[in-house]
Amino acid sequence: MPNGALSAQKEPPETEDWPLTANLPLDRMIDPDRGVISREIFVSPDFYRAELEHLFTRAWLLVGHESQIPLAGDFFVSRMGEESVILCRDAQRKVHVFLNSCRHRGMKVCRYESGNTSLFVCPYHSWSYTTDGKLQGVPLYRALYEGTLNREEWSLIEVPRLEVYKGTVWASWDPAAPPLLDYLGGAVDHLDQVLDCRDGRPGGSEVIGVHKWIFPANWKFPSENFLGDTYHNPSHRSVDMIGIGPSGQRGVKGRRDNEYNKGRHVWVGHPGGHGMHSVLMPPEFEYEPSYAQYPAVDEYFRHCFHERKRRLGEKARLLPFTGCIFPNTAYHGRQPRALCVWHPHGPTETEAWRFFLVDADAPADVKDVLRRFYMRYSGPAGMTEQDDMENWLYATAASKGTIARRYPFNYQASMGAHRLNEPIRGVVSLQITDQTPRNFYRVYASYLRGDDWDILVGRERSPMQRAAE
Ligand code: FES
Ligand SMILES: [Fe+2]
Repeated sequence: MPNGALSAQKEPPETEDWPLTANLPLDRMIDPDRGVISREIFVSPDFYRAELEHLFTRAWLLVGHESQIPLAGDFFVSRMGEESVILCRDAQRKVHVFLNSCRHRGMKVCRYESGNTSLFVCPYHSWSYTTDGKLQGVPLYRALYEGTLNREEWSLIEVPRLEVYKGTVWASWDPAAPPLLDYLGGAVDHLDQVLDCRDGRPGGSEVIGVHKWIFPANWKFPSENFLGDTYHNPSHRSVDMIGIGPSGQRGVKGRRDNEYNKGRHVWVGHPGGHGMHSVLMPPEFEYEPSYAQYPAVDEYFRHCFHERKRRLGEKARLLPFTGCIFPNTAYHGRQPRALCVWHPHGPTETEAWRFFLVDADAPADVKDVLRRFYMRYSGPAGMTEQDDMENWLYATAASKGTIARRYPFNYQASMGAHRLNEPIRGVVSLQITDQTPRNFYRVYASYLRGDDWDILVGRERSPMQRAAE
């Protein structure tokens, strides 16, 4: 193709260099070895633009769950980075993810959140696309386009990489991205505890609803919160005091007596930038009656607890708390059991989505109680998430100022206080740590620098890692 010529083909244009990144003082702004990170990465339009170019176009991103599109023609409109995408199941039941933008002049071909269709008809000039992305209808085709427009070249833009893992659907714009399981590495041991049935059967979860809301903070604040920032527990003191959780326990004593706290809390960092806070329970741990106010629900979880122990043996000791799959997918592993995605809207605005999970074959009354607790806990109207959001949006606002931006954030908690591969895969800390965010930002800088996948998923150490050793 001659230099500068445009093609209708779906391949992205080749880019020789990335001046955006070359101009960013990455080493000076992001120094995980000293535990110092510039506020610029949370407020700067230049960093934000580089994230969209280099990070959200390469990393595996969660776009939805198969249970949201069970039938041929079902669709759920999702996002990848800033861009709208359509997750859909075609007439042959194959799952696709398409850019939600008409090939004619760019209009969104689907303006609904979800539904079922046999065709996506663009509202602008009515070009229409089948659910496998092919351009089907072009009004006045014979009169206007015969002999010129080759419909095969003007299909919807489809993500080159899509994988389904235990119902969750992930996509990447990078054809060279490693398989999803390589990308997740050891983080999958923890993610499994979120996606598997409560009785230990693999997979089997379904999404019972999605909360969506927008807040004025950088997307990395919630991501790093879910890496295991248990240090921020004082933010939730009011919730502890009134005891709104399903256990009905109140105050610090209630938390201390929790069975969960008899386990060994671990904060685990993985080479791909993922991090989680999980709990390794003692071999003989007991059932924690967490839904004591609802005997039928409590009975269900009691049954699941014993069944899971029987099924998984030693592996049942690992219980999830929170985690973040790099860059912007997070989870709550127990209550409220949910996957979250922090979609970037701008340097200081984020759209939060929470996909609430239940066992697909749980009794209807159990699902109903869980749905109500999820709503009580989460989102802008929930009792707990408000606390977190208040922190993120004030931290963003207070970091925007000319003077404030000259002073970096501190990530020096538990420097060096971690172990390798024991008792869990990854870099493990047995105390609250900033090791997971330090690791997250090391990988973040690597994406912005344009490092190759061997470095990004930890198959090879980056020059920065080598220098630190
Ligand atoms: S923009 Fe879609 S048909 Fe014109
Ligand atoms: Fe919190």
